[in-house]
Amino acid sequence: MADFFASCPQEMSVVLEKELNNLGFEKTERINSGVYFESSWEGCYRANLHSRLASRIYKPVLEFIAYDQEQLYREIQRHDFTKYIDPQQTLAIDTVINDCKLHDQRFVTMVIKDAIVDQFREKKGERPSIDSKNADLRIHVKGTKNTFWVALDTSGSGLYQRGYRREVGEAPIKENLAAGLIEIAEWDKQSAFVDPMCGAGTFLIEAALMALNIAPGTLRKRFGFQNWLNYKSDVWDKLVSEALNNEKEMIDFPILGYDIDRQVISKAKSNARLAGVDHVVKFQTEAVAVVKAPCEKGIMITNPPYGARIGEEDNLKDAYKDLGFTMKNHFKNWDCWILSGNKDLILEMKLKSSRRVFVYNGPIECRFLKYEMF
Ligand SMILES: C[S@@+](CC[C@H](N)C(=O)[O-])C[C@H]1O[C@@H](n2cnc3c(N)ncnc32)[C@H](O)[C@@H]1O
Repeated sequence: MADFFASCPQEMSVVLEKELNNLGFEKTERINSGVYFESSWEGCYRANLHSRLASRIYKPVLEFIAYDQEQLYREIQRHDFTKYIDPQQTLAIDTVINDCKLHDQRFVTMVIKDAIVDQFREKKGERPSIDSKNADLRIHVKGTKNTFWVALDTSGSGLYQRGYRREVGEAPIKENLAAGLIEIAEWDKQSAFVDPMCGAGTFLIEAALMALNIAPGTLRKRFGFQNWLNYKSDVWDKLVSEALNNEKEMIDFPILGYDIDRQVISKAKSNARLAGVDHVVKFQTEAVAVVKAPCEKGIMITNPPYGARIGEEDNLKDAYKDLGFTMKNHFKNWDCWILSGNKDLILEMKLKSSRRVFVYNGPIECRFLKYEMF
């Protein structure tokens, strides 16, 4: 079994594996939902600190087959969970069951909880209490066709929760999905970047963090592993200070965001301030039809509204027409990428894409389309 597992949004594991390789993790193995990687605990801290694409970093501890309660209880007790937290700390168990003989999720969670707290009682005389929201130790259990995968969540909360996005507009995209799409689009991190329908500014803020080499984990307050008994704060402090030393102060190309909604633009500005990138990302209230490229070449990535609610689609046709017009007339020589969950609206742009990638934005299947504007 590999030492750690980085989970990610669907279709992102190829770019996540590249990111982990670039972070120095050489032995990696990719599956649909993420990437296994061999590493020390220091490497686990490093992945949590630097990964822009991972949703969470897990430490897998058990994998076994169980058909009944006794087997499940016995197998869970084969791992010593008492080495991670004190009995005064808290515990949470997240269980996902698919096609198992032990099919009742709540029952499986209860058996696992009993096995772990009994282990604490036997070894330490006391047991940790359960806190489903802010547990010191989160244990993730995935049961598929009677095989159970048990892993500790070293991140604690999703790594996409960088901490800068206090304010969101309509249908914001998760931070790590935005970062993954920027990687898929192969932005070189040294040329102009525009989002003409930027909402809360997620693409632009992620792009600025990349360009300034700001490790996303330096924006977060806490990680799961920091609550554990094996936590080495000196190792973490060294990694953070190295990351801070490697940040750039300035860039020499524009990162620009526009949106028709003034209130949304003020939210985006406040998010950029919280992320510490407001000196490089500039925002303006503007309709997409009049947005112009700031220079000869660059990349546009944007996520226009999809019109998920009934009756909305008709109102959005003009917005897609305007977006197509702006790309064709105001962004010549640019690579433009559109993320949309509505293929009928995409047709309104009257442009032919040169690449198409299917991704999920939450539950919505979306197309991420490349248009090369000659
Ligand atoms: C799906 S949201 C973008 C979400 C964004 N990616 C984020 O993470 O917050 C689409 C945005 O397009 C904007 N929009 C809609 N019609 C527009 C138009 N004609 N011109 C400019 N912006 C428009 C909306 O105000 C909305 O903020």
